[in-house]
Amino acid sequence: MSKVTVVGAGNVGATCANVLAFKEIADEVVMLDVKEGVSEGKALDMIQTATLLGFDSKIVGCTNDYAQTANSDVVVITSGIPRKPGMTREELIGVNAGIVKTVADNILKYSPNAIIVVVSNPMDTMTYLALKATGLPKNKVIGMGGALDSSRFKCYLSKALDVNPTEVEGMVIGGHGDTTMIPLTRFANYKGRAVADLLSKEALDKVVADTMVGGATLTGLLGTSAWYAPGAAAAYLVESIIHNQKKIIPCCAFLEGEYGQEDICIGVPCLIGKNGIEAVVDYKLNAEEAALFEKSAAAVRKTNSVLKEINVL
Ligand code: 2OP
Repeated sequence: MSKVTVVGAGNVGATCANVLAFKEIADEVVMLDVKEGVSEGKALDMIQTATLLGFDSKIVGCTNDYAQTANSDVVVITSGIPRKPGMTREELIGVNAGIVKTVADNILKYSPNAIIVVVSNPMDTMTYLALKATGLPKNKVIGMGGALDSSRFKCYLSKALDVNPTEVEGMVIGGHGDTTMIPLTRFANYKGRAVADLLSKEALDKVVADTMVGGATLTGLLGTSAWYAPGAAAAYLVESIIHNQKKIIPCCAFLEGEYGQEDICIGVPCLIGKNGIEAVVDYKLNAEEAALFEKSAAAVRKTNSVLKEINVL
C-alpha cells in the first residue's frame, strides 16, 4: 500500500493529487488544506471521475487534520501563496517560510519516515528550510523545480524543432528563479542529435530565454502562477520515488561539495528512487556552465540568508 499526502489543495496541489490518482501512482492520496471544505470538495470531485477515467486510487480530503496523513510514504508541500504578475518567487519568502516550517513539523509527527517533496516558492530556499527545520537526512527532502523547468525547456525545444516533445531530452539545473535557472543546451538533444546542430543560435537562445521566464510568462497570462505543469512535475518526481524508477531528474538537492557547492539546496541532476535522492549525478560542467552555476548558487544563498533575518531558521 503506498500513500502520498499533498499539503495545500490549491491549483498546484490539487493538480498533483489528480495526476497521482489518475495515473494510480499511489494507492491512497490525501489532500490537506487549511481552508474548510476545499480538500474534501476537491477529493469528492476527483473521486467522481474514477469511473469516467478508469482508476481506483483512494482519494481523501481533510481540513488541517494531520492524523489523516499518518504513515505517508511521500508528502508534497505546496502550501503558501503563489506569485502575482510582476512578482518574483523570492518575494514570497516572508509569508511562505512560516507556513512551510509549520507544515513540515506537523507532517513528521504523523509520518516520521516520509520523503518530503517541496513545491512552495521560493522553492530552493523552502527546500533548504524544510531540510534544516526537520533535521531529516538530505536524501529525504527534494525540491521539484528542475523537473518543472526541464519540462518547459523540452516543450520550447520541441516547438522550435517542430517535433514530438516526448522525443526531446533536456535538463535545467541551478535555482528555480527567472534569472537563476540554467538550461543545459550542451546536453539537450533530439533522438541523440545535439539541438545546437539542429537549431540556429538565435532560435536556441530564444528557447533558453523563454524557458527561464516560463513561470513568469504564465503568471502574466493567468494572473496567478501556473499549476498544470508544476502539479504534474511534482507527481512525476513522486512516481519515481514510489515506483523506485531510478530516473535521473534535475531537482533541488542539498549539496555537500557536489558541483563545487555546500550547505545549499539547488537544482542538480539526481537519481530518484525509493530512498528519495539516491545520488547526485555529476555531468561535468564546462567552465561557462560552472560559472553560471556559481552565480546561481550565490543568488540562492542570498535568498536563504533572509531565513535568518526573519528568524525562521
Ligand atoms: C512556476 O514556475 C509555480 O514556480 C512555479 O510556475
